[in-house]
Order: sequence, then C-alpha cells, then structure tokens
Amino acid sequence: MTHILHLDSSPRGERSISRALTKQFINVWKQIRPNDAITYRDLGRYPVPVIDEAWIAAAFAPPEQLTPSLEAALMISDELIEELLTASLYVFGIPMYNYRIVIVSMSQSSHSASLLWWWR
Ligand SMILES: Cc1cc2nc3c(=O)[nH]c(=O)nc-3n(C[C@H](O)[C@H](O)[C@H](O)COP(=O)(O)O)c2cc1C
Repeated sequence: MTHILHLDSSPRGERSISRALTKQFINVWKQIRPNDAITYRDLGRYPVPVIDEAWIAAAFAPPEQLTPSLEAALMISDELIEELLTASLYVFGIPMYNYRIVIVSMSQSSHSASLLWWWR
C-alpha cells in the first residue's frame, strides 16, 4: 500500500491553481488505487509556526531537561516529521510568489529538516 502525503500551501482558496492540480492528481489516484492511505495538510489555511526561540531552546535541550512548554514547542515538528517519514509518495502544491516558494512551505520544511539533521 502506498501512503501519500498531500500538502497544499497556496494562500488562495478556490481560485488556487496549485490546489486544483493536487486535488485533480489525488482524485485520479484514488480512482485507480482506492486502498492507498492519504494524509492531508493545508499549510495555506493552517500555517505551521516559524522556528522561534522556544523551539530552538527545546531542540537543543537534553531530553531530561524538557519542560512541558519546551515539549509543546517541538510537538508540531514531531507531527510534521511523522507525516514525512510515514509517507512514501509526496504530492505538494507549492506556488511561486515573487521568485520564492511560499513562506509556509519553507517553514514546514525547516521544522522537519532541522530535527532530521539532529537525528541523523
Ligand atoms: C504577487 C504574485 C507574485 C508572483 N510571482 C511569481 C514568480 O515569481 N514566478 C512565477 O513563476 N510565478 C509567479 N506568480 C504566479 C503564481 O505562481 C501563479 O499565479 C500561481 O497560480 C499561484 O499559485 P496558486 O494559484 O495556487 O495560488 C506570482 C503571482 C502573484 C499574484
């Protein structure tokens, strides 16, 4: 069974072209392989927080010194990494605005990349 991580990041809703493309891909995929699992994350509507001081303190703290608030700072990263590692196929809708990919996608990847780098 394939596990797909379907991610949209456009700040636009119904008018978004990248959302329409990922949706079309997923719909066709579901018709062909109805038993595959799909996890959906909408970074455009529900952006992940940027890496801040609390997150950095938590990421660098030894496990025995993690307070509940430091643990809470890392929770979203754990969730994002779990989604990335669980999936075996990735469908990302990431539009380009002003020669950059939208910031929410960068924020998502920096959460995952920072911790994955630590754990390598
Ligand atoms: C303010 C603005 C800046 C844009 N900048 C770029 C760009 O630098 N490069 C590019 O190829 N397209 C650019 N575009 C076109 C968008 O990538 C295109 O409209 C795309 O459909 C946006 O994705 P969405 O429809 O999923 O929101 C820009 C569009 C807007 C409105």
